[in-house]
Amino acid sequence: MAYGTRIISGALALGIAGSMALGHGDVAPQAVDTAGLPELGDEWLIENPYRAEAAGEDVWARAVEIGASGYNQNCARCHGLEVVSGGLAPDLRFLEAEEYGDEWYAERFQTGYTQNGITKMPAFGDLLGQEAAWAIRTYIETRPDDAAMEQASDTLKGLRDQLASMADGAEGDSAAIQSQLSEIASSIDTLSGAPLADSVAFRAANLLQGKPMAYKEAAEILTIGLSAAH
Ligand code: HEC
Repeated sequence: MAYGTRIISGALALGIAGSMALGHGDVAPQAVDTAGLPELGDEWLIENPYRAEAAGEDVWARAVEIGASGYNQNCARCHGLEVVSGGLAPDLRFLEAEEYGDEWYAERFQTGYTQNGITKMPAFGDLLGQEAAWAIRTYIETRPDDAAMEQASDTLKGLRDQLASMADGAEGDSAAIQSQLSEIASSIDTLSGAPLADSVAFRAANLLQGKPMAYKEAAEILTIGLSAAH
């Protein structure tokens, strides 16, 4: 146990020293808590093991959630919030969600990128591990196409307002709203080719399917997503 702890603090110290070598504005990789995800062992895989078709929807959903936080802490400052690149680094939403894209992703994640002795992207593999790597990958590849979200945004706002007034006691048809949300969700694609886009329409539809009376929560999901899109 003590030995294990020493290895971990050694790795953290290395991470901190590594980031100081990068100079001002660079931040040490932030460890990601991957509790609840299947462990993957030491040998790096070349294909995302957390896709719904391989691991089931529960693992997939957990991977998206953990990946979102891992991404925001470690990648967003270069690759952009919500994975929409501002031009500083490639837009990762376009990396194909299949073996070719995965292999490239895993390679970059593990080794980072250095050009003429300058670290353009730090290596994350040793410090974050592959469970975090593939969770972040799952989050990245399930980002909804922002143009499709934009197109749906007026309709989503209308549904959000209906849900908000139902939360205040107004009459309304939860099942009808749920099916409209599902329909919108299935019309929104990913840019990676991954079959499921984790849009706010998808999340709100899922919530109402399990809990038809969760008007307030569903309205909140839509509100957050709609304001993030702008
Ligand atoms: C300090 C800035 C920075 C950070 C932080 C960063 N990256 Fe990068 N990343 C880059 C740059 C710059 C490139 C382009 C390198 C090149 O020219 O191939 C890149 C390239 C990539 C690529 C290859 C993309 C392609 O289309 O070829 C992947 C995948 C990637 N990064 C994933 C990540 C992930 C995942 C994280 C967070 C765990 C991350 N990056 C954090 C700067 C960064």
